Amino acid sequence: MTVTIVGSQLGDEGKGALVDLWGGAADVVVRYQGGDNAGHTVVEGGEEYKLSLVPSGAVRDKIGVLGNGCVVNPRTLFDEIDTLRERGLDPDVRVAERAHVIMPYHRVLDGIEEEAKSDSDLDAGTTGRGIGPTYEDKVGRRGIRVGDLLDPDVLRERLEYVVPQKRTLVEEVFGLDAGEEFDVDALHEEYAAVGTRLETEGMTVDSGTFLHERHERGEQLLFEGAQGTSIDIDHGIYPYVTSSNPTAGGGAAVGSGVGPTVVGRGEVVGIVKAYLSRVGTGPLPTELVGDDEPLADHIREKGGEFGTVTGRPRRIGWLDVPMLRHAARANGFTGIAVNHLDVLAGLDEVKVGHAYAFDGREIETMPTTTEQWERCEPVLKEFEPWPEVDWTAVAEEGYGAIPENARTYLDYVSTEVGAPIYAVGVGPDRAETIELQDPFET
Ligand code: IMP
Repeated sequence: MTVTIVGSQLGDEGKGALVDLWGGAADVVVRYQGGDNAGHTVVEGGEEYKLSLVPSGAVRDKIGVLGNGCVVNPRTLFDEIDTLRERGLDPDVRVAERAHVIMPYHRVLDGIEEEAKSDSDLDAGTTGRGIGPTYEDKVGRRGIRVGDLLDPDVLRERLEYVVPQKRTLVEEVFGLDAGEEFDVDALHEEYAAVGTRLETEGMTVDSGTFLHERHERGEQLLFEGAQGTSIDIDHGIYPYVTSSNPTAGGGAAVGSGVGPTVVGRGEVVGIVKAYLSRVGTGPLPTELVGDDEPLADHIREKGGEFGTVTGRPRRIGWLDVPMLRHAARANGFTGIAVNHLDVLAGLDEVKVGHAYAFDGREIETMPTTTEQWERCEPVLKEFEPWPEVDWTAVAEEGYGAIPENARTYLDYVSTEVGAPIYAVGVGPDRAETIELQDPFET
């Protein structure tokens, strides 16, 4: 049995809470794309752990796998593992030998290119973690993979090919100085040592074979998507996207090495935040701006809408339903979880963007280009607000205790997405997620 958790909006939908809830039944938790641009907070035994790369299951005695679709920054990986060990845990993390390595020059190039693009408003507001430049090198067939770190000669050969090109790019194209991040010998020394440590600790795997064998044995696999469908490189608001595929099809199967039928025979659960938030740049039709700014400030504060990785305040908007319909189709959701319902409690008005008015007609899903999306005006639908209540008590009592108007809102979302509700988040603690269906038990 497999369960795939996917963000259905722009990331930060609170996927971690569901990975937490359902990860307990899993034997292996697999990340299949992205790198240390993802941030999640795991609370275990009263302790809080902030992770950006290590799969959260590794905090709970599960095996955590970083699949071949991930980009791995070894500095972050070891930092997180060492911190967890210092705090008394013994995380079991395996890294795909086919995964690409984020090198120090990738981070530098991320910053340089964002700066260059900002003149024409093409900067994506990246996390600055070198994600895009690493995926670029992967597709350009000049990347360095985790497996390459295990052989110092191969590593040197790869570095000697790629680093002078990067140096020339920085110096000749961007007219900047290339620093120590572009020094082949220094890089070789540091990253050969990374290879030695990975090997000594037995951390590297062929993720496809590893996961296939466990699946055949009847173990439960949880695929943990990072970011969200609308910042997917193929299905998102290009170019304001991340450089990988958070979606279940292109992501979970290709990025872990199991077949699409393995993912497809399992559950694919879309995680929805009850409103919209966004850390990056680009259009946002339902954004609360102008007269609605005080409302955005209120939701931001109440929902703790500040980037986990970067601390940036997030932009806030009403739920964008065309975006959800797009995500449901692109991922084939079998169920959804709606988070942060409590954040909308006690408002004077609750609205959603039900459709878009676009070039004189009404459309119900996202257009293909970002320029078209920018021309979309939300067709708003208003819901009766629901009161502030004791959400901890509601969580204890279950779904029926959710205020009626909020249940009407949830029913609407479920109908529009065409998938049943598996869980509702009414607060940040694990106990504040109301479960209607455990996807491992369908
Ligand atoms: P990158 O992934 O750092 O290259 O950033 C590309 C775009 O994806 C930017 O708009 C980021 O703000 C956004 N992004 C990347 N990771 C996350 C995330 O975990 N949550 C929300 N947005 C993200």
